[in-house]
Amino acid sequence: MIAQGYITDVSYIPGFYPQMAPVALRHVAALNGVVPPAASAGFRYLELGCGLGRVVTTLAAANPNGEFVGVDLNPEHTAVAGREIAAAGLANAQVITADLADLPADLGEFEFIALHGVFSWVGPEVRQQILQAARRHLAPGGLLIVSYNAMPGWAHLQPIRAILRQYAALRQGDSVQRVRDALAYLVFLRDRQAKYFVDNPRASAYIDALLTQDVRYLAHEYLNHHWTSFYFAEVAEMFGGAGLTFVGSLPTHTNFWDLCVRPDFQELFRTTRDRLVTEAHKDFCANTAFRWDIYAKSPRRIDGLEGRLAVADDLEFRVAKAGTRLPVQASLGVVTSTVDGPLYGMLVEMLSAGSLRLSQILADDRLSATPPADLARAVDAGVALGLFEVSARHVPAADANATARGLVVVNAFNRAVLESDALGGRAVALASERLGTGQAIGDLDAAILQEFVAGGREGLSDRLARRLAASRRTLQRDGKPVDDPADQRKLVDAACDIFLSLTVPRLGQVGILETSAAP
Ligand SMILES: C[S@@+](CC[C@H](N)C(=O)[O-])C[C@H]1O[C@@H](n2cnc3c(N)ncnc32)[C@H](O)[C@@H]1O
Repeated sequence: MIAQGYITDVSYIPGFYPQMAPVALRHVAALNGVVPPAASAGFRYLELGCGLGRVVTTLAAANPNGEFVGVDLNPEHTAVAGREIAAAGLANAQVITADLADLPADLGEFEFIALHGVFSWVGPEVRQQILQAARRHLAPGGLLIVSYNAMPGWAHLQPIRAILRQYAALRQGDSVQRVRDALAYLVFLRDRQAKYFVDNPRASAYIDALLTQDVRYLAHEYLNHHWTSFYFAEVAEMFGGAGLTFVGSLPTHTNFWDLCVRPDFQELFRTTRDRLVTEAHKDFCANTAFRWDIYAKSPRRIDGLEGRLAVADDLEFRVAKAGTRLPVQASLGVVTSTVDGPLYGMLVEMLSAGSLRLSQILADDRLSATPPADLARAVDAGVALGLFEVSARHVPAADANATARGLVVVNAFNRAVLESDALGGRAVALASERLGTGQAIGDLDAAILQEFVAGGREGLSDRLARRLAASRRTLQRDGKPVDDPADQRKLVDAACDIFLSLTVPRLGQVGILETSAAP
């Protein structure tokens, strides 16, 4: 049931995390003045502890010029990934069943290494093996992304994990049954007002969040023997010992300390030049509980804006949401920021009509009053604020009339994912070559997409309603199930309308839906 303290009796859940995409890593490196690995001429990408392999497969489908390798010790996980690779015909993806202690000798070097949901959940020996793998297999100039449970955000929640695990160990059955029992015990303690919960109201609320989670996720999150959380400085020291340098973090706004700490703390940060110190203090001001950090091996510094254009001008920028009008309010954890003013007004106008490279933005006369370095900073900050998105290739403007034509889902991977995940209860990530990453849609939208492609917009709501009735998927409003058939029908109609007006143009824009070649 357990390998090196890690549970193996229950399979994990599939998931795609946009933070792991090369396009996101390359942008964070560039905005922090570090030369990102070149991507257009091909690159290699390794995921350690890849679980069911959805990151590997989605990124492989979105980046045909990359070679993707996943490693996991659980053969049930790698078997699922292997089947999905075969179903989608992904020639540039493979998964290997191996313990991190025993990686194949001929694995070679990678421009990108990623590990999510692994570093905090494995024992100290496995962490050493991860550091060893980083030292050996990350190419010079390569980027590594690691996620982990962070302090101080976990401080008041650690006791919950301790009780969950202790109680689960006393129960019978597999890890899912044990975690279910342990959760019921926590609810019992909380509802009878055990003093820990009275003294820690956020921990009490956290139980409600746990109750909404998939129990397989809870088993993998909480039942591993070595589960732990780290301060940023501890992780930086470990990777520093493996010869890696901290570059930056995701989501993008975490690279802008003024978007992470309230204005009353900002004077303190202004005077601190040391990025490592800034990161540590930022986590206290934001009570960070989870981090995605990017490290580089032998990073080369970018030499000014010209230098950035020489190494990262293949990245393109565009408005994230069609129809964006300023002012826009961005809520970023502890900071809420309002985006407005003529500079952003012009950028929104330019980046609404398809994506542009930084060099194209800088060359536009309409922005000539702003110094180039400030302009680049404004574009990066726009990404941080959620106003703009970065893409690996050109993304044209959305076509509002896209629904008038016959459309097909172009990629075999996307068709396979729709088949397996529609109405599955969690977001479905489709691969976009233009974005170089996954595009998430809801599981209901995934079913609407299938019905729309198969039978057009005529009778779309009827077909979806029939399909829902035959499934176990319940519709919800404000987190509560909707039982009344008339209300259900209203929700189905509304979902189809929104799908046709927003989702179809968006999927067409990023190249997931294309006009059928057939007459
Ligand atoms: C929480 S899951 C995360 C999976 C995946 N990265 C994701 O985010 O969906 C952790 C994964 O690490 C794998 N793992 C744990 N210890 C390992 C080891 N020593 N060698 C290889 N894989 C390991 C587990 O089998 C599991 O699939």
